[in-house]
Amino acid sequence: MATVVRACRTRGITMSWAEYLDSHQSRFVDELLEFIRIPSVSAKPENTGDVRVAGQWVVDRLRAAGIDNAEMLETAGHPVVCADWLHAGPEKPTILIYGHFDVQPAEPFDLWDSPPFEPEIRGDRIYGRGATDDKGAMFIPILATEALLSETGTLPVNVRFFFEGQEEIGSPDLPEFIAANLDRLQADMIFSADGGQWDPDTPQMVLGLKGLVSLEIKVTGAASDLHSGMHGGGVANPGLALAHLLASMKSPDGRITIDGFYDDVVDLTDEDRAAIARVPWDEAAYLAQTGAPATHGEPGYTPREALWARPTFEINGLTSGWQGAGTKTVLPSVASAKITCRLVANQTPEKIYDLIVAHVAAHCPPGVTAEVTKNPGRADPFLVPAGHNATAIAGQVLEEVYGTTPYQTRVGGSIPVMSTLLDELGLHAVMFAFGHEDENQHAPNEFFRLPTFRRGQTAYVRLMQALGG
Ligand code: BES
Ligand code: MN
Ligand code: MN
Repeated sequence: MATVVRACRTRGITMSWAEYLDSHQSRFVDELLEFIRIPSVSAKPENTGDVRVAGQWVVDRLRAAGIDNAEMLETAGHPVVCADWLHAGPEKPTILIYGHFDVQPAEPFDLWDSPPFEPEIRGDRIYGRGATDDKGAMFIPILATEALLSETGTLPVNVRFFFEGQEEIGSPDLPEFIAANLDRLQADMIFSADGGQWDPDTPQMVLGLKGLVSLEIKVTGAASDLHSGMHGGGVANPGLALAHLLASMKSPDGRITIDGFYDDVVDLTDEDRAAIARVPWDEAAYLAQTGAPATHGEPGYTPREALWARPTFEINGLTSGWQGAGTKTVLPSVASAKITCRLVANQTPEKIYDLIVAHVAAHCPPGVTAEVTKNPGRADPFLVPAGHNATAIAGQVLEEVYGTTPYQTRVGGSIPVMSTLLDELGLHAVMFAFGHEDENQHAPNEFFRLPTFRRGQTAYVRLMQALGG
């Protein structure tokens, strides 16, 4: 990789950064294919080594781009990668660019049209797990710096990179890492290469992310599975008890009924609601995109308000009894549910967890016991305040690159480290990321659009130039 960069320079060819990006694009795409081939699934213990391989790939790629001090650094869990290029001069701002090299599990494999870790280009899309979230997107700023360094020998701003290998499991070890490594992360502004743009022709400024708490509820009845004829009517069924318990937590009309759940929620102001309403909403397109028969949210809120700015309660997995073909007359001993709640200001994962524990204790049906356990990983809700200076510049760059004014949006997703960086460095990260909502994040047939990959590279070059003045 390093040879290619140097070869251009020694031959004395002077290209513009844009020509550099164009003429090296097929190499960049090949490299992205190589990056996606590493199954860096942070959630699965058997892929722990692959997360490291992906981290080392990033280290090598940063070095090849001409970035200094690229290193993989340890945490109690999956590693992080830090690097910097700090030669623009003390009068120039220092920016910190964030992204993640871990990916979500790719199961169920049989729903993929091509294997998730054998990426394939079809048309102008690259298919594979992590293509958009976040391997393709986090590679973009590396390429933008490579093009500038190669063509001008310098960068308009000082740049630090901070990539992690545990975002998709809630970044459990990052608060400790960040607190212990503040010197490596000092910056004037943070840009996140995880996030996204509205669609291939329309930019957006993502001004809000939701928080997250993750837990499991396990309901236990008899000491082991029983014959459902011999014991049905004699002991409680944990599957049904869990169903009753879950039904007590959210009403069919969409309101969460966990005692105290909404207490800390800051109501949307008229201004917030007006800002959300300015972004077009196409119900039919949303239903077509999701394949759902109807929208379903919280009464009193538009679907978009619920999606972007109201807390949610979701069952992510539900298990009890016989799951195979046909009938098995069993009275299960246990039933369990995996649950995540997405949170908004000023809810905290810790308080919502405590409320759920108290709710389960108060509403557990007779004849069973219920146990709640917290899963690792949590996120605070994150809102970028109006008038944040990096937001204005990022918005102008997007407007120039796309030729249209960015929408101001929020998303229902979470990036746990955003609030940690805010707490530790006092900086609100600005989402400056490329990738689109329809690219099957976390789902089968995840893909990334190659024109967006290329356009994002231009945008990052222009961002650094605009910030360098
Ligand atoms: N890239 C997403 C978050 C995101 C989604 C940002 C949509 C912007 C638009 C991120 O990788 C993600 O999936 N985060 C997890 C965090 C969780 C495991 C704590 C999420 O939101 O589920
Ligand atoms: Mn992501
Ligand atoms: Mn993700």
